Amino acid sequence: MTVARGVDLLVVAQHLRIGYGAFNVIQLEHAEAIIAGAEAVELPVIVQISENAVKYHGGLGPLGTATLIMARDSELPIVVHLDHAEDEDLIEEALDLGFKSVMFDGSKLSWEENLARTAAITKLCHDAGASIEAELGEVGGKDGAHAPGVRTSPEQAALFVAATGVDSLAVAVGTSHAMADRSAVVDLELIAALEAAVPVPLVLHGSSGVDDAGLQAAVRAGIRKVNIGTRLNQVFTEAVRDRLAADPALSDPRKYLGPGRTAIQAEVARMLGLLAKPR
Ligand code: G3H
Ligand code: ZN
Repeated sequence: MTVARGVDLLVVAQHLRIGYGAFNVIQLEHAEAIIAGAEAVELPVIVQISENAVKYHGGLGPLGTATLIMARDSELPIVVHLDHAEDEDLIEEALDLGFKSVMFDGSKLSWEENLARTAAITKLCHDAGASIEAELGEVGGKDGAHAPGVRTSPEQAALFVAATGVDSLAVAVGTSHAMADRSAVVDLELIAALEAAVPVPLVLHGSSGVDDAGLQAAVRAGIRKVNIGTRLNQVFTEAVRDRLAADPALSDPRKYLGPGRTAIQAEVARMLGLLAKPR
């Protein structure tokens, strides 16, 4: 199947009032496991590579190309998405490779600059046949707009979407990136108000910090793309650690990466299922 355009999947989610999972890839095993997990439950999935992961590998090409090939080989609609990109050259590279979904993260910019750059990058993505997710906010720091106390204003969100033409919007509604526990409380009333104010699908970041019931409630309230990274790394590393502890003489990476990959696959299948049946 061809690689799906991000917004096409999210519009289906809007129509069905469900959520789709968007899972972060760090290494090849993550991409293999995410797609295998989606195939196990026969649900579409968004496979995303962040600018930080690109920096870790020293480039997008090898991992991005491999992920695109895996997506094309699947029978399911799979979106391959560039996540949290601040670098315009990287966005152009992703579009050239065949990514049909991109997030431009201008959350560290001023309102005016974020709006102008997002509008320009939206045109770039649309001209390449790709869709774009963006976010607004003026809070700096590691978490940007995704810190517990930060909230997206529905009025500003509506202005931003209308002025830029973006296809989906990341919103700050109580989550924070890279939480090790699932204690974040999402602001459900705000999600509903945002959904009423903007026509495009809403995206939840930092979803590893929210428990199952909270994620399902967020989807019921109006979230359509649920970004999950840390949670997969937790189950992966736990499985690897257990395997290595059980056999300290082990040296073949396949013997411990394999169990890590299986653990990710199971968690992806489980989470996709609960997001697709949020009642
Ligand atoms: O864009 C990616 C996500 O927001 C992942 O956040 O690692 O806290 O789940 P997380
Ligand atoms: Zn994020």
